[in-house]
Amino acid sequence: MTADEPTAPESAAGPGGGCLGCPGPEAAQAAAEAEATREAESRRAELAVATGFLISTASAIALAVVYWAGGQTQLEGLFLATALAGLGVGFILWSKRFMPHEPVVEARHPIASSEAEVDAFRDEFEQGENILTRRKLLVRSAGAAVVALGAALLFPIRSLGPRPGKGLKTTPYRSGVHVVTATNDRVRPSDINLNGVLTVFPEVPLNTDAEGEDVQPAAQADAATLLIRPNQDVTPVEGREDWTQDGIIAYSKICTHVGCPVGLYEAQEHLLLCPCHQSTFDVLDGAEVIFGPAGRPLPQLPLGLDDEGYLIALGDFSSPTGPGFWDRDR
Ligand code: FES
Repeated sequence: MTADEPTAPESAAGPGGGCLGCPGPEAAQAAAEAEATREAESRRAELAVATGFLISTASAIALAVVYWAGGQTQLEGLFLATALAGLGVGFILWSKRFMPHEPVVEARHPIASSEAEVDAFRDEFEQGENILTRRKLLVRSAGAAVVALGAALLFPIRSLGPRPGKGLKTTPYRSGVHVVTATNDRVRPSDINLNGVLTVFPEVPLNTDAEGEDVQPAAQADAATLLIRPNQDVTPVEGREDWTQDGIIAYSKICTHVGCPVGLYEAQEHLLLCPCHQSTFDVLDGAEVIFGPAGRPLPQLPLGLDDEGYLIALGDFSSPTGPGFWDRDR
């Protein structure tokens, strides 16, 4: 070698011919093994989290199936608990293994970001994007668990029962339906004395309970009616001039405030009193409210007689019975 020939700088080559500062083959292999171990651990943790979510998904589906098949309280409770536990375990493992845990203190710094900070942020953002892409299994399994559990929790809506339809606005009273006492006896006008009151119901087929006993259907209870024979003529509401029979007038017994039975009749004042909040209704004047919180009169029932002299309804009440509800007037 001549003095003029270029020589490699010493700092660029190690004794074995490798570059200075570059890891040797053993160090590189150790680093690769450590990376592989980290990757394997991460993969195991990922599978553990996904397993929690999958257990939750399966339990939620099982919960829905059991409910749909008729329900079994203990099984439903077990599956609901497992679904919630799987979801909880999944999220806990996720936060423990994949979220940063070291305390972070951010020093006050100038508001404007330097070029270096912008670059660092961009790198971090892209790295985060990579991590999210890598964790597709976790995101998807967590989504499946949440969706399955949400769907299973929608099923109990069926337990609210059938839609009420017109059931809130009508009663079994129709033209020609007899009024009957609690013991299912038909009523003649002579059964009610002057100043007397009698509670009656529409005559409908009774239901049978598990012991084979006759029970009153709910629709009949909603149509509880007071027959009253005041000692004075009523002033009929316009259009209801022929709604009384032999001096007997019929009003709903269900208070229009919150539905208590209106049970007290002040014969001398011709007033019906609700014992719950003291709403008072004028019997001679269409059961208008003269005191208390009720917002509207008691509905009136048109009365007539059948061929045998029994009292019958000539139609349904003048308005829906009981307390007001959101679409009463629609
Ligand atoms: S329920 Fe009758 S006054 Fe309240």
